[in-house]
Order: sequence, then structure tokens, then C-alpha cells
Amino acid sequence: MKVIITKDYEEASDKMFEEMKEFLVPGKVLGLATGSSPLGLYARMVKDHKENGTSYKDIKTFNLDEYVGLPLTHPESYYAFMHTNLFDQIDIPEENTHVPSGLGEDLEGQAAHYEEMIRENPIDIQVLGIGSDGHIAFNEPGTDFNSLTHVTDLLEPTIRDNARFFDFDMDKVPHQAVTQGIATILRAKKIILIGTGENKAKAVKAMVEGPITEECPASILQKHDNTVIVVDEAAASLLSK
Ligand code: GLP
Repeated sequence: MKVIITKDYEEASDKMFEEMKEFLVPGKVLGLATGSSPLGLYARMVKDHKENGTSYKDIKTFNLDEYVGLPLTHPESYYAFMHTNLFDQIDIPEENTHVPSGLGEDLEGQAAHYEEMIRENPIDIQVLGIGSDGHIAFNEPGTDFNSLTHVTDLLEPTIRDNARFFDFDMDKVPHQAVTQGIATILRAKKIILIGTGENKAKAVKAMVEGPITEECPASILQKHDNTVIVVDEAAASLLSK
């Protein structure tokens, strides 16, 4: 894995956009993430679309994950997040965008169907953030490295971290999610991960320098042959070199 250390979040977002830019051409399949970390990247994609006319008409997207049980209209659903922060501001057709469904009777069946769609549309570049416990998408510590898209229980650190989006009330945070599995993510041809701020420093160290272990899901990225990790100085502060 290649590690790029930047001064701050803005510079990290610039780097993420630089990595992404060559993939913004017809026929490409983008893997997208939610959370605060990719917001700077999405703002740059919107600006580039508006100023340079980069078109998304023939680009497809697949998101990593979704909460179970939130209506699509809930502002914190990942479906709504993606529409607000990216899809509604570019020219991508709705049918080209995919966010796993966290609603319905047969969540596992829907997850299997989502996995199938990604197999048919291999992801060219996957955007990732990282949880403070080392999770990627919603693959929490202990998740099987061979996992495919599945329904999962969220662990307490993740519920606590995400409570800031739900009036700081942990009871309002959904306790389950549908997520691409680790094996799904690793099939992406290129992976770009952004981690910024002191809160991510421990997870970044475990991801980059720790043993490859299911206790730190992101550590498996050491085995992926085309991964770029973009971290700011605060998130990189525990790295030994
Ligand atoms: C959630 C998402 C992850 C994301 C993580 C970190 O758990 N499922 O994909 O990487 O949050 O979020 P943030 O970027 O807000 O720190």
C-alpha cells in the first residue's frame, strides 16, 4: 500500500480527487463511501462537474453500505446522504447509482443480489473511510476476511461515533446495517482510503503497520496490490516512519 501524508483535511481531499480524476470517464464503475471523510472529495467532484463539464452519464456507482430500517427520506440514510452530497449535484442517471437496501423482508436475499450486481460490474476504484476501530464499510472487527455483502450488527464504538448524526443519542442510531463484505471490497481494482484527525490515528497505525488480522479489518488492505492511503498529519501521528 502507498501512504500519502498531507498537512490537513483539505489537502487530503485534493489528493483523493487527484487519484479519482482519471476514473471520471465513460464506462467506469465507482465504489463510493459515506461518512464525513469523503465529503471533501465529493465537493471537488461536484465543482469539477460544474466548472469543467465532467459528465457522469455513462458512469455507474455502487455504495458500500446502508443502515437497516431507516426510510430513504431519513436525512441520515446513506441513500439520502449520497443524493444530497453528490448524485443530485451531478448528471448521473438515478438508475446508474446503487446503494444497498436496508428495508424489506429479505435483507440477506437483497444483499446477495447486490453482491451479484457488483460481480457483473466490477469496481474500478473504491473510495473508503476508516472507522476509529479499524472498520471499513460496516465490517466491524472480527468480520471474516472472506465475507460478501451481508447484514451485520454494529459494535458500540461505531454506534457511539455515529451518534453525532442522530442528536448525539445512541438509541436513535440503527444497530444493524447491510454492508459489502471484505472480499467484495478487495475485488476493486484500485482502492483509495482517506483517514484524517487524531481519532483515526490508532486505526491508521494498525492498518498500515499492524499484523493482518480480522481484529483490524482495514489491515487486510496491506494485501491489496493497488491501494493508496491518504492521511493527514494527525491521523498519521502514530506511524513509526
Ligand atoms: C461509517 C461508515 C464507514 C465510514 C466510517 C467513518 O461507519 N459505514 O464507511 O468509513 O463511518 O466515518 P467518518 O468518515 O465520518 O469518520
